[in-house]
Amino acid sequence: MSEVVLDIQSLTKTVHKQKNIVEDVSFQMQKGEILGLLGPNGAGKTTTIRMIVGLIKKSAGAVFINGYNMDENAQKCRAQIGAIVENPVFYDYMSGWKNLQQHARMAVNPVSKERMEEIVRLVQLEHAIQDKVKKYSLGMKQRLGVAQALLHQPALLILDEPTNGLDPKGIRELRDYLRELADQGISTLVSSHLLSEMQLMCDRVVIMESGRIIDETVIGDLDAADTAEDRVVAFQCGTGQQAQAKKLIESLPGIEILDLEDQQTFVLKMQAEKIPYINKLLVQASIDVYAIERKKTSLEEKFLSLTAADNATLQQEVQ
Ligand SMILES: Nc1ncnc2c1ncn2[C@@H]1O[C@H](COP(=O)(O)OP(=O)(O)OP(=O)(O)O)[C@@H](O)[C@H]1O
Ligand SMILES: [Mg+2]
Repeated sequence: MSEVVLDIQSLTKTVHKQKNIVEDVSFQMQKGEILGLLGPNGAGKTTTIRMIVGLIKKSAGAVFINGYNMDENAQKCRAQIGAIVENPVFYDYMSGWKNLQQHARMAVNPVSKERMEEIVRLVQLEHAIQDKVKKYSLGMKQRLGVAQALLHQPALLILDEPTNGLDPKGIRELRDYLRELADQGISTLVSSHLLSEMQLMCDRVVIMESGRIIDETVIGDLDAADTAEDRVVAFQCGTGQQAQAKKLIESLPGIEILDLEDQQTFVLKMQAEKIPYINKLLVQASIDVYAIERKKTSLEEKFLSLTAADNATLQQEVQ
């Protein structure tokens, strides 16, 4: 049976008396689910998150955490949320461990030493936890922030743009421990403007633009159905053959040349089923094909096929 951890109903934020920067946003999160809030800069992700955690007042709508209405049971609800919205604040001159202890003292639920050690292990800070925070890299501070947010054993973790400033290894590790938390039944709401990252990290994504939800996608469904209509593929030809290949392809209907990447490569948008045909055509024209590479994830392709305007903004974010 599914258990709803977070239920947001018609959340709206109005500024300057008439402008809605978040409008009628509704979604639910299940226990153990990783949900992505995806959208370009200014879409309203942070505003939505701030309303959920109570950092700003909502103008309309309702937030339920584990069935409790935030307006009626604020304390009970807050005890169930661990969040990093703005950059977490640390005492730089103290060790990571001392910072966690400080935080634990203020936590709503009592925090044992074992619990602290468990969290430190989870975010992989064992080797550095006794070092002063001023020596930490950005990624390490981010992990310490996640550790703080998790100390009081919340059911729901909320992270606003957690991969900002992380290197690829850091992003992969974040992904791994969010999955580990999910396996333990903890739900995570994570915001980002990066499509490919969200596809790898989340079970489901809710897409926002201009304050509204424009789409919602279950990642598993996406992989199964795989929209084959707008496949973006790079073909790499032999040296000096690009122009000849381009000429050949330009004459074909339903195939769009998006980019000439370098002297040898061109990027096409077309139906996936045409890939073998293009390959055959090139080879028959004595053009050597060194590589055929898919350039966008299935989530990116899905959004390529959304409206042109949405497409333009979302793609900008990706690049
Ligand atoms: N207090 C405020 N008063 C007026 N406008 C605001 C206020 N806070 C945010 N906005 C506007 O609301 C829109 C949504 O902002 P928000 O920070 O929620 O977007 P975001 O999706 O988090 O963007 P980003 O990816 O840049 O973090 C923006 O256009 C922003 O300028
Ligand atoms: Mg934001």
